[in-house]
Amino acid sequence: MNASVDVDQRLGPEDVRGSVAHVRMLAARGIVSADDAKKIEEGLARIGGEIERGEMTWRADREDVHMNVEALLTERIGEAGGRLHTARSRNDQVATDMRLWTRSACARTASKIDRLIAVLSVRAAGTIDVVMPGYTHLQRAQPVRLAHHLLAWCEMLERDRGRLEDAAKRMNEAPLGAAALAGTTFPIDRAHTARELGFERPMRNSIDAVSDRDFLLESLSALSICAVHLSRISEELVLWSAQEFAFVEMSDRFTTGSSIMPQKKNPDMAELVRGKSGRVIGDLVSLLVLMKGLPLAYNRDMQEDKRPAFDAFDTIDDSLDVLAGALATARFESERMRAALVEGFVEATEIADWLAARGVPFREAHHVAGRLVKRCVDAGKTLPQLTLDEYRAEHPSFDESIFVAIEAETAIERRDVLGGPARKQVSSQIAALRERLVARGVDWAKE
Ligand code: ARG
Repeated sequence: MNASVDVDQRLGPEDVRGSVAHVRMLAARGIVSADDAKKIEEGLARIGGEIERGEMTWRADREDVHMNVEALLTERIGEAGGRLHTARSRNDQVATDMRLWTRSACARTASKIDRLIAVLSVRAAGTIDVVMPGYTHLQRAQPVRLAHHLLAWCEMLERDRGRLEDAAKRMNEAPLGAAALAGTTFPIDRAHTARELGFERPMRNSIDAVSDRDFLLESLSALSICAVHLSRISEELVLWSAQEFAFVEMSDRFTTGSSIMPQKKNPDMAELVRGKSGRVIGDLVSLLVLMKGLPLAYNRDMQEDKRPAFDAFDTIDDSLDVLAGALATARFESERMRAALVEGFVEATEIADWLAARGVPFREAHHVAGRLVKRCVDAGKTLPQLTLDEYRAEHPSFDESIFVAIEAETAIERRDVLGGPARKQVSSQIAALRERLVARGVDWAKE
């Protein structure tokens, strides 16, 4: 129950880094001798190397990552090792380690989001002429470009990445120096350690510094929202893979066959990403429940923050990698998408708009279009297959130009409004997206 090293050994590199900063500060302030500080730093460097190479033997009887590093250090360098923990507590130490770890985890996840956005930008540019029905209520609604839909996914992901960046900015303050909760009698320099570890500044309040885990709650909230987005994208891929849609064929690497039904090609990877989103949300809920009743300052309950934090980041990172691969290799079935447009009577809005533009009140125009759809349903026809006479039977003002107006491309191109589906708008969205990627140092052309 007491030991946590099986989970928190993952903080080994951060723990060593934090201790190095701490001992340098102690030496600079004359709290430990230069000689002891040198021994400690060398000992820590050796342990750091062993951790990195996976050579460290973690001992459960030494409880956690902090005690493992310190005990091994003291075993090796003797008395000097015992001075490392001067003016420090495991309470500010673990808070520092977790902030260091989470800060780089946020950066790693953000770059994986960037890669998925880059993949989508390439797929969008390559499918700019593919038209498909846009849906509301899962009913075919109006024609759009596939690229426009892919760019909608990009916008969701851009915000996810922004949320992680915001969280990383807010968490970038150093708890170190808060000690157990009330600071220390030693003349430490908290700004020194903060600077050394790349933090913006020391945290202002020593009680808050060891009590706060809202930096984790915030990151896991951002990850949970991202998980919801990845799940929605996956759901669309699953749906589009169904033969009823057949808008996409996922590559074999991201699907499985059935052991009994030879015809099947199951979109398992998309389903797993959708499923794993539940885990990430569960991790956030675990952490919220863990924290909600805790009095200030440190409580041992907080040791349980690590598993959900690590799991949430790992799960999202894997999901992002899988989706990037699946989307880079998926085949979009443009013929099927076009066929779905025509069968779906998505031209109905165009017909109503065409009449309204010629002075017919929109409500009446809407009824006329509805009657034309009914005619089609009754006759087993599509709207372009009706004759001009049939159009005129419903309203006398129709002329030949209605047939151009109801073409998907016409409908799309006429929606030349900022953020809309017209070719010009979509291309400029892709260009702007790529500019943002380049500004963040992402080489989208690699995808
Ligand atoms: N393993 C502990 C944790 O992760 C470190 C802090 C322990 N502090 C204490 N006062 N026992 O929370």
